[in-house]
Amino acid sequence: MKEEIINLKNQALAQITEIDNLEDLKDLQITYLGRNGRLSKLIKKIKEVKGGDKKEIGIQINQTKKTLLELIASQKQKIKSKSNTEFDETVPGILPPVGNLHLVTKAIEEIAKTFKAIGFSQARYNEVEWDYFGFESLNFTKDHPARDDWETFFVDVPEDKKLGPMILTPHTSSGQVREMKRVGTPPIRMVNIAKCYRRQADVSHVPMFHQFEGLVVDKNISIVNLKGTLDYFAQNFFGESRKTRLRPYHFPFTEPSFEVDISCDVCEGSGCKLCKGGWLELGGAGMVHPNVLRNGGIDPKIYSGFAFGWGVERTYMMKEGLKIPDIRLLYSSNLQILKQF
Ligand code: PHE
Repeated sequence: MKEEIINLKNQALAQITEIDNLEDLKDLQITYLGRNGRLSKLIKKIKEVKGGDKKEIGIQINQTKKTLLELIASQKQKIKSKSNTEFDETVPGILPPVGNLHLVTKAIEEIAKTFKAIGFSQARYNEVEWDYFGFESLNFTKDHPARDDWETFFVDVPEDKKLGPMILTPHTSSGQVREMKRVGTPPIRMVNIAKCYRRQADVSHVPMFHQFEGLVVDKNISIVNLKGTLDYFAQNFFGESRKTRLRPYHFPFTEPSFEVDISCDVCEGSGCKLCKGGWLELGGAGMVHPNVLRNGGIDPKIYSGFAFGWGVERTYMMKEGLKIPDIRLLYSSNLQILKQF
């Protein structure tokens, strides 16, 4: 009997490895292991065995059964993995990765929304721009040393006789005169959100970044309106706990001019490598210079205005709860970082 079992086992093993479809495999399983299968018949024969051999044969049959079942299962896997037409609805699906908007896109949308709520229209003025709109019309003379502060990229095309060289705009202020010319007669209430370019790269600067520029021109616009608008933005965008401050400054296109600072969220005011001293500079602001209004075709005796220009990235980073120690991470294409926002 022992030999019979060994023969049966060897036969079955040889057959199983030859089988290449699930139906034949099932038939084989019935032939050997089914209720009336060949192994079951042997089990029934155990009764006839005499003495101590009974136990041994029982164990042998059980082991044979186990070996055959294992081999059948592994053959089943082999057949399945070969035939890709087979659909197994029990296998869990692969979820497609779901993306999210880049932090800067979200920032732009939020900034635009905040200003739209108080009647500003959104614009996106030229990023490749003439010197005239970037500097000249903003009251910079040709050799004004303040031009150096903007670390401008020049585009290698012939100069225009009136508009000067072509540049990658270093600030969104280049949209001021364009908007004045577009609207013609005030009121103007616009926020220009666009890419800007400057030759700089460190923990708080990238050569391509974004600014948003507010411009309001109307009758009787004063510094009170500027302060009110900045306060409105700070409270609605950053939350109650953030502080802002205005420092007297100089820009050729505003008079008086200020720099707008906001308390740093990374170090909470104690000073860190991002902010140096607890405050982070967001950008400038001021009352539109009469020469700029004139260049936009607006009479400064009748109208006045204010403008402010801040960095989108920095503004968003300073928003409550967001601790990014290096601005360059935003443009690193590192999904592990970007997925968090
Ligand atoms: N354009 C200035 C800058 O990039 C900021 C500014 C905008 C200042 C509007 C005053 C008014 O630094």
